[in-house]
Amino acid sequence: MNQDELKRAAARSAIAYVGTGQVVGVGSGSTVNFFIEQLAAIRERIAGAVSSSQRSSELLAASAIPVLDLNEVIAAGTPLPLYVDGADEINDKLQMIKGGGGALTREKIVAEACERFVCIVDGSKLVDTLGRFPLPVEVIPMARSQVAARLREIGASPVQRPGFVTDNGNLILDAAGLTIVDAPALEAEINQWPGVVTVGLFARRGADIALIARPEGIETRFAH
Ligand code: A5P
Repeated sequence: MNQDELKRAAARSAIAYVGTGQVVGVGSGSTVNFFIEQLAAIRERIAGAVSSSQRSSELLAASAIPVLDLNEVIAAGTPLPLYVDGADEINDKLQMIKGGGGALTREKIVAEACERFVCIVDGSKLVDTLGRFPLPVEVIPMARSQVAARLREIGASPVQRPGFVTDNGNLILDAAGLTIVDAPALEAEINQWPGVVTVGLFARRGADIALIARPEGIETRFAH
């Protein structure tokens, strides 16, 4: 099986977590694109989706799945039982690095709003220690150099993602070279630097379930 087939298999296995009549939180990225394909096949069974990126919203709309506004969903008191998203890295505590696609801020917002985070990955995303994948940090443009300097102070080598502007009009610094031992602490630390919009560590609110696709099948892991 190639990597796309594994991503598709992980996405397919997440459909079992979608309940009838629900609004589904939908993440971003190539694995989620396969999930949206699968969701399209059961679109009559769901009430719609809350999306974490313009790209996912476009794909959902093209599949005739209603894209709902998060503020309206929350104001109406509609439950959001499920969020499905991929990851760039995930460890055995189901803490993740995300933001390879640059949608980390909206992903974190929708993940926070949903009750259960189901992460869909192929086996290559599973790591012992987070940090091999450069940590994405979304910054207000004015704070780029200041935040880059602070990232260097903690041992990272940040580079601005070339030619990239987020859905929120900001920049991404990709911080390579970190060995992340205490992910919740590092997430809290970077989050409070002025000018940081979101750090792509999803540790304080990690995944609840990981569906890990390998050639021999899907492994389900639960947060502990
Ligand atoms: C998007 O911003 C990311 O957080 C994605 O969830 C992550 O990059 C995984 O993407 P793939 O499914 O394309 O590997």
